[in-house]
Amino acid sequence: MTDFLFPADLDPEAPAYLNGSWLALSQARVSVLDRGFLFGDGIYEVVPVYGRKPFAWDGHLARLHRSLAALSLESATAAIDWAEIVQGLIAQAKAQDQFIYLQVTRGVARRDHSFPRPAVQPTVFAMVSPLKRPSAQDRAEGLRAISLPDERWLRCDIKSVALLGNVLARETAVAQGAHEAILSRQGFLTEGAASNIWVVSQGRLRCPPRSNQLLAGIRMSILPALARALEIPFEEGPIAQTEVLQADELLLTSATKEVMPITLLDGRPVGTGVPGPVFHALRAAYDQAIEAHCA
Ligand SMILES: Cc1ncc(COP(=O)(O)O)c(C=O)c1O
Repeated sequence: MTDFLFPADLDPEAPAYLNGSWLALSQARVSVLDRGFLFGDGIYEVVPVYGRKPFAWDGHLARLHRSLAALSLESATAAIDWAEIVQGLIAQAKAQDQFIYLQVTRGVARRDHSFPRPAVQPTVFAMVSPLKRPSAQDRAEGLRAISLPDERWLRCDIKSVALLGNVLARETAVAQGAHEAILSRQGFLTEGAASNIWVVSQGRLRCPPRSNQLLAGIRMSILPALARALEIPFEEGPIAQTEVLQADELLLTSATKEVMPITLLDGRPVGTGVPGPVFHALRAAYDQAIEAHCA
């Protein structure tokens, strides 16, 4: 019997869900013939939880369904009650603020590129981790980023577990002492290695358009609504790489990083080099939305 390794910095008793069973994370096992392992043939979702309630759940669930549909896994997973899995993990978790990771792969089959015929049972896995919210220091100082060419495939709109392009970009950033890589394709901003990127110029908040070239983050629906309420002009449209380099402010959003300022890009200060007024306004509004969610 193989002795399974388990990371020393994770709780081996953390609750997990695998194919209909609840178990400790350290006990969860998947076959080496799983197509997620062999081909990256699977999708995932990350849902933040505040005060034991999933945040922006409708948006995350809708994206999960879109991802499943993109892989033709909709009918094979139609009977799954995603809310029940999420609620089960939240109930068993210790922390008030958590994040849920959900993953679905095509399942276990003889190794062959085309889908197995007949279809096999998809592998459904979920786990919960304590959410470490952005520190006061990072909010006050901002994050560091580097610019990199976007070398990923052309279906970045699918939240696929095949993340090698994202992994290599993030690693390049971290190896250079930065937090994130800001990716551009053919001279235009796409997104971060694991985040959406926002540009503020002359008081206007901007993000690149939804397309096959980036993942439409759930915060791409939340931030414009917050901006509208704050009367900050917002525009979704192409952003040249040169405009990123000349931005007054740069922001980053993701489920776990929430809304954060980027104050250093390629070793040079962004704008004045400190988090700007648009960040402060949106950050406060996002915090208020979380507070209201918990109330
Ligand atoms: C490549 C990529 N783009 C964008 C995002 C932001 O999406 P969300 O706000 O839904 O977390 C993520 C999140 O991890 C991501 O990995």
